[in-house]
Amino acid sequence: MKILVTGGTGYIGSHTVVELLKAGYEVIAIDNFDNSYPTVLDSLKKITGVDIPFAEVDIRDKKALKAFIKATPGIDAVIHFAANKAVGESVANPLKYYENNVGGTVNLLEALQENNINQIVFSSSCTVYGEANPPVDENAPIPVANSPYGNTKQICEEVLRDQTQASNLQVVALRYFNPVGAHESALIGELPIGIPNNLVPFITQTAIGKREFLTVFGDDYPTPDGTCIRDYIHVVDIAIAHVAAIKFLEDKKQASAFSVFNLGTGKGNSVLEAIQSFEKVSGKKLNYKIGPRRAGDVVQVYASCEKAWNELGWKTERDLETCMKSAWDWELALAK
Ligand code: NAD
Ligand code: WQD
Repeated sequence: MKILVTGGTGYIGSHTVVELLKAGYEVIAIDNFDNSYPTVLDSLKKITGVDIPFAEVDIRDKKALKAFIKATPGIDAVIHFAANKAVGESVANPLKYYENNVGGTVNLLEALQENNINQIVFSSSCTVYGEANPPVDENAPIPVANSPYGNTKQICEEVLRDQTQASNLQVVALRYFNPVGAHESALIGELPIGIPNNLVPFITQTAIGKREFLTVFGDDYPTPDGTCIRDYIHVVDIAIAHVAAIKFLEDKKQASAFSVFNLGTGKGNSVLEAIQSFEKVSGKKLNYKIGPRRAGDVVQVYASCEKAWNELGWKTERDLETCMKSAWDWELALAK
């Protein structure tokens, strides 16, 4: 099968390209380099030995996107990563997020329909659950989103579900919990632009000396050590889940045309546990301070993963220490 990967040079997209090739799929990637670099293609070649077929396409440009898909015969399925993902920026600039994340997805769906491509795997997020009672399963209620970014994920899921009713489209939406870590080669990983918002890149950048200290956002939450709890999942485990989702579509295993799965480990870790795990694998003492709570943070969230285990036949294989070790190796490689 030939798989089109949108956002293919991004953090999760690049790791997924590696796993798709490993599993024997043919891949073609597109990206507009809004949040990634062409050098990722060189790294992908080093890892896989393959020159990844690639085109610089902006999914907001409907005409260009349609022309590209029409001119690329044999696409069987799409994995759609391309989107903006900074929660704070989405609050400051919601239209950017609605245009790119929602508008871009609509453009893609039009292009797929016109070319009779009927299988798509979509990047959704645990953010759709807001503050929920963990372990959170796929039937948990979807409250009003607490950011425009989160809303774009909710809306895209609805757009995709509606399109399955109106066409032959088959959809798997994957709700990622907290993707972290990097490829074991330390050739690809997360490339946060500017000051990172997320915990793990902030930890590694502090340890390497790019940041003076990490602020732990609150230690007075109703959790065992007072800090927030999240389900940190290795990016390679996430990538492998996309291969399982493609196989699930290929084998026509879905009970309905729209399926949704949580991608998590099923285990929650606190901010302090994440720091301790990093210190253990890196052998470095992290400079951190306890600060005030961050507005909008949920207290604790981790996944119930049974649906993905049972229906996709997929389970995480990498633990928190492996996540932290690979994130640290990636930061060390970047420093070189
Ligand atoms: P990323 O920013 O590293 O990758 C996204 C890629 O899409 C980037 O390479 C970017 O340049 C590209 N892109 C953005 N807009 C585009 C456009 N208009 N046309 C073409 N390419 C475009 O982010 P990521 O962490 O790899 O996230 C991938 C997907 O997973 C996103 O949809 C994100 O919302 C979702 N997601 C991410 C997380 C996370 O914490 N990383 C969690 C849940 C869901
Ligand atoms: C994790 C924990 C912070 C930074 C975000 C998005 C979500 C999804 C995943 C895309 C929290 C604490 C963090 C720091 C800290 N992305 N923290 N000091 O907020 O769970 O989820 O990424 O869909 O939509 O919101 O991830 O890594 O920012 O935070 O104490 O400097 O680390 O308070 O408890 P979050 P995160």
